[in-house]
Amino acid sequence: MQPVAAEGIGARPRQQRQRLIMLMDHSLDVLEFVSRGGRVQSVSNAIVALAGYAPAELIGQKYAKFLHPDDIKVAHATFRQVLSTGHAGPVQLRYRHRDGSYRTVQITARNCLSDPRFEGILVLTRDITEQVTIEGALLRANRELHRLSQELLVAQDSERRHLARELHDDVQQALAGLRYSMAAARAPNSAVLPASMVPTWDAGVAEIMDKLRRLTLHLLPASLDRFGLAVAVEDYVAQERSLTPAVLTAEIAPTVGRFARDAELAAFRIIQEALANAMKHGRARVIRIEVHRDRDTLVIAVADDGTGFDVPAAMERAALTSRIGLHSICERATRVGGHASIDSSPGQGTTVHAEIPTSGPADAGAADPA
Ligand SMILES: Nc1ncnc2c1ncn2[C@@H]1O[C@H](COP(=O)(O)OP(=O)(O)OP(=O)(O)O)[C@@H](O)[C@H]1O
Ligand SMILES: [Mg+2]
Repeated sequence: MQPVAAEGIGARPRQQRQRLIMLMDHSLDVLEFVSRGGRVQSVSNAIVALAGYAPAELIGQKYAKFLHPDDIKVAHATFRQVLSTGHAGPVQLRYRHRDGSYRTVQITARNCLSDPRFEGILVLTRDITEQVTIEGALLRANRELHRLSQELLVAQDSERRHLARELHDDVQQALAGLRYSMAAARAPNSAVLPASMVPTWDAGVAEIMDKLRRLTLHLLPASLDRFGLAVAVEDYVAQERSLTPAVLTAEIAPTVGRFARDAELAAFRIIQEALANAMKHGRARVIRIEVHRDRDTLVIAVADDGTGFDVPAAMERAALTSRIGLHSICERATRVGGHASIDSSPGQGTTVHAEIPTSGPADAGAADPA
């Protein structure tokens, strides 16, 4: 829309005035003039929609009379500001409707008291009730999303524990089967010579044990609960080293020690996911894991010299395609009071940084080692 001043160029003064009155009367915002004493001098038609009053009913009334009692202080401060500086706002207030309900409004004010054409304070009142309601709903939805994603992480861990236990039981069954076979071979009337079976049994046991170790280490490393982060990461790295052509190093400072189980688990999972990504996506030649403790903070860095990637774009894509790795790195760090960041760009490799507070109580051993 053209500005009024431009519209008015060339128009006769009377016509120009009529147009301005027309604009004011059709504005969705309430435009009014208020006296130095805070009384309404004139008000536009939009007040009918906002408050259910006809303009004539408000003339001579105090502007503040229609505000929520808790907002009067802010309104007075705004009034003082417009008197001293010439401008005030935008300020958010609640304006009472004739039916007793409140609308949320945003007001801005301009001091025109010394202008003989107006001799009043121009107050613009905009109804933002819907906007505030929607913003509130969005905020609540966002909080809920955050809560759910945290719950998802907790659920993932408990599911992994459950799986680890199941697999453990499975393998134990297999071991029991082997033992049974050995007992049968030892029976006096057995046609099978036990000695001839030994290599088979031995290979079977070794295979099962190896599978068990790999799977439980991946799902929930028992060494994390028993011996802490340093041992768990070293065990895990030793296992993963055979699965990647990259040179994989881990420098875990001896000062890392033990700390709260939740924080140890979060740190382990962050390293696990960052390493998995470096191995899976980065085509890295070197992957370096560094963990040390800086007073009450565990500092983690997982760096690779691979392809790198556009982090914001990947995070956005990941959210749409249910890839949870990068998001879970950030969520896990936040859940234990820390934070994580992913530093990468195409062609520049990737470094995942995380800082985890270690000041919570160390409750090693209290949890089920699964
Ligand atoms: N170290 C890395 N090097 C190169 N690209 C990476 C690296 N880490 C992540 N990416 C990119 O970011 C994307 C999202 O990673 P994210 O870990 O969220 O998902 P994912 O690994 O594909 O799947 P998920 O972790 O859910 O199994 C990846 O698909 C990959 O394109
Ligand atoms: Mg991943």
